[in-house]
Amino acid sequence: MAWRFLSVLAVVLILAAASSAADEVLIPRPAEAAAPALTFGEGYTQLFGDSNLRLHGDGKRVHISLDERTGSGFASQGAYLHGFFSASIKLPSDYAAGVVVAFYMSNGDVYEKTHDELDFEFLGNVSGKEWRVQTNVYGHGSTAVGREERYGLWFDPTEDFHRYAIHWTNRTIRFYIDETPIREVVRSERMGLQFPSKPMSLYATIWDGSSWATSGGRYKVDYKYAPYVAQFTDLLLRPDPDHHGAAGGEAMSLSSAQRAAMERARARHMTYGYCYDRARYPAPLPECSVGAEAAMYLPSGEARSSDRRRHGKRHRRAGGADAAL
Ligand SMILES: *[C@@H]1O[C@H](CO)[C@@H](O)[C@H](O)[C@H]1NC(C)=O
Ligand SMILES: *[C@@H]1O[C@H](CO)[C@@H](O)[C@H](O)[C@H]1NC(C)=O
Repeated sequence: MAWRFLSVLAVVLILAAASSAADEVLIPRPAEAAAPALTFGEGYTQLFGDSNLRLHGDGKRVHISLDERTGSGFASQGAYLHGFFSASIKLPSDYAAGVVVAFYMSNGDVYEKTHDELDFEFLGNVSGKEWRVQTNVYGHGSTAVGREERYGLWFDPTEDFHRYAIHWTNRTIRFYIDETPIREVVRSERMGLQFPSKPMSLYATIWDGSSWATSGGRYKVDYKYAPYVAQFTDLLLRPDPDHHGAAGGEAMSLSSAQRAAMERARARHMTYGYCYDRARYPAPLPECSVGAEAAMYLPSGEARSSDRRRHGKRHRRAGGADAAL
């Protein structure tokens, strides 16, 4: 969805890119000392939304907001082939139906017809109902082939900052929430160019997705509750120096504990998976490895909630924690 939004805005973006509103330093945490310490002005650029993008505190936090006038967003100045990209994000609280916060990588500005994209999309909800997170992968303009997965979160994403990360290598794409890997796409021969393989920039945007975001468009953005503010901090760009795999020396494969944590998180929290959507893909796409867990999903790809609860309870009794590594 983000690609469509951006293509509409392309002209606005080009104009807006000329003016960078920010110039304060984003200080890396000690453990991230290897990452380039760039000022917002050096590393990122505002895309749109004029005063709806603001730097706060000592300049480490970027707030982007949506009101009746406009959404807002920023992007990295550089484009990267492989690496580890993350941000700690706190989402707008209270009524936020129709609001979409996106944290993603794309090269749609360079490759109009053959673009690649890796998405985290956060979909707001009515008051008291939980946000959903969607991840998606497009490669070489494969926008007709959705690879969406949706998850509930095991915490309230409007209460605190949580880290959302994309680790992209030549062989795998992984999405993390805090320390927990939630999705891994392993490159397969048959995926071909649908596995993203051209440099991408990092983006963060907030916009009005009333037509689809919440219950298929049933609940819309209500500007009575505006501005909707999404807070970003600890923005990390760690490009992969050798372009092949180990970003910053990180292990190329998940440890068995990480893999177990990923499988637990998916079993408990995934609410939709394209690999299980038989209505849309009568034969699963080539990278899907569908096993016994398929019984937990309806032919629409939606999780069977009763199975999910049983599954969750079994793990809770066993003392598993989502973030355990
Ligand atoms: C909103 O809450 C309802 C009810 O809990 C849930 O079914 C839905 O998936 C939530 N999220 C969105 C984005 O609609
Ligand atoms: C990915 O790895 C393959 C095999 O190791 C190699 O042939 C190819 O050039 C690599 N591609 C990139 C973009 O690094």
